[in-house]
Order: sequence, then structure tokens, then C-alpha cells
Amino acid sequence: MTDVKPLKLPDKVPTHIAIIMDGNGRWARARSLPRLAGHRAGVDNLRRVLEACVEFGIQYLTIYAFSTENWNRPVDEVRGLMNILEEVIDRELQKLNEKGVQLRHIGRLERLRPELQEKVRHAIELTRNNQKLVLNIAWNYGGRAEIVDAIQQIVADGISPDEVEEDLVSRYLYTAGCPDPDLIIRTAGELRASNFLIWQGAYSEWYIASTYWPEFDREELFKALCEYASRERRFGRVPGSVSPE
Ligand code: IPE
Ligand code: IPE
Ligand code: MG
Repeated sequence: MTDVKPLKLPDKVPTHIAIIMDGNGRWARARSLPRLAGHRAGVDNLRRVLEACVEFGIQYLTIYAFSTENWNRPVDEVRGLMNILEEVIDRELQKLNEKGVQLRHIGRLERLRPELQEKVRHAIELTRNNQKLVLNIAWNYGGRAEIVDAIQQIVADGISPDEVEEDLVSRYLYTAGCPDPDLIIRTAGELRASNFLIWQGAYSEWYIASTYWPEFDREELFKALCEYASRERRFGRVPGSVSPE
């Protein structure tokens, strides 16, 4: 990277960061632009944040890009968001693959247009052996839907009640095989989970930034990492005792 000031990372960096990328609409409104312009600015920012995550040695990044509740938005906005996803895959897939990014999807893919589903599946397949960073894209994702899907599959697989324990449930989630997020960041100031990673986030540290997502840059991410490093994760223990990390 050029003309970027080097930052001294704290000793303790999260393995997995999850981000609720919120505030695209407000960013656009503040500039008298249409909401979709905010979503496009959000995509540009994602590219920058992804680079920063690679620079900071983050291994897993999960981004909340379209929730199961976002279908309730105006039809034009939903259509625009789906088009943006398609354009991003068309335009960025090769570059992401070259950077060593492994793409995964979490959510219900089947509600998307068949051609878009196909593009997502192709992107996952193409990048499946990449090791630099795993990027989980939460698209048509809902934490409750995820748990419902897991329960349905557990029942369909004939698992007996006494075999149902926490690790088994985790293995039935969309995020199977992924460590739980250490840090969940929400931009644009809202203090709620909005149905994001409600199982996996049970013990995540939260960081709320007032900045709108299109302006949440490398320095802001660095600030979040410093804040994370200063937290003591107790997992129910008493202060100062050894954590299971
Ligand atoms: C987040 O930004 C992006 C999506 C939910 C798709 P918003 O569109 O929710 O932005 P605000 O909250 O209206 O500012
Ligand atoms: C959460 O943001 C979903 C995404 C960022 C994709 P929303 O803007 O949809 O959440 P609410 O409606 O404010 O809870
Ligand atoms: Mg929002």
C-alpha cells in the first residue's frame, strides 16, 4: 500500500470481525442523493475495509449486506440492491480471487433470481481454496431464519434430542466451520442487532461507530481494533482469570 500511514496494531487482534454496514441511506440523504447512491458508496467502502482487514491480519470478515427484513423496503431499492450484488460479483470476483479471498454466502439463497444464485454459487466454488481471508456475505440473512433452518435440518436428519447440544447446533448453522465473531461492529449509531448472528454473537464484543458506513475507513477500523484490544473478555468468569481464548 502507498501513501497510507503505518499503524501499530495492538497485540490482540480479532480472528473474526462481523460488520453491520448501516447508514448508506442517511449518508445519501445528507448529500441529497438517492438511497441507491448510498449503497454504491457503501460497496466502494467495502473494498477499502476489506483491504484494511487483509492488512491487519483479520482471517474472517462477515458483512451484513441484506437482511430477511430488507425485503420490506420499496421494490426499487430491493431491485437496486440485487443489481448491485450482481455487478459486484461481475466486476470484483477475479480481483478478489487473485487477492486470495474466499467468498462464502450466509442466508437463504433460494429467494434470489436463479441467475444471481448461479453467480453466487460460482463465486463460492471459484474461491473455495483461497486462504488469505474468508469473506462471509450475509445476503437474505436473518439470525432467526438461520436457527429455524438449522432446526428443520436437525429434525430431518433424525438427530435424537439427547444429541442436540451447542456444538451440534453450531454445525447446522450457515456459518458451520467458522469461529464465532470476536467483534461485531455496527456503523451509523443504532444500538441493536437487527437479527444479525444472534447465536454466534452470544459472546462477541460490540463496537458501535456513529460514522455512516460509506465513511467508515481504515482509521476507524483501527480504532475499533484498539478498543477491542482494551476489553477483557470474561465469558462469565471473574476479572483477571484465564479466558478460554
Ligand atoms: C445499510 O444501510 C444497507 C442495507 C440495509 C442494505 P441502510 O440502507 O439501512 O441505511 P440507513 O439506515 O437508511 O441510513
Ligand atoms: C441491518 O440494517 C441490515 C443490514 C445492514 C443489511 P437495517 O437498516 O436494515 O436495520 P434496522 O431496520 O435499522 O434495524
Ligand atoms: Mg439502516
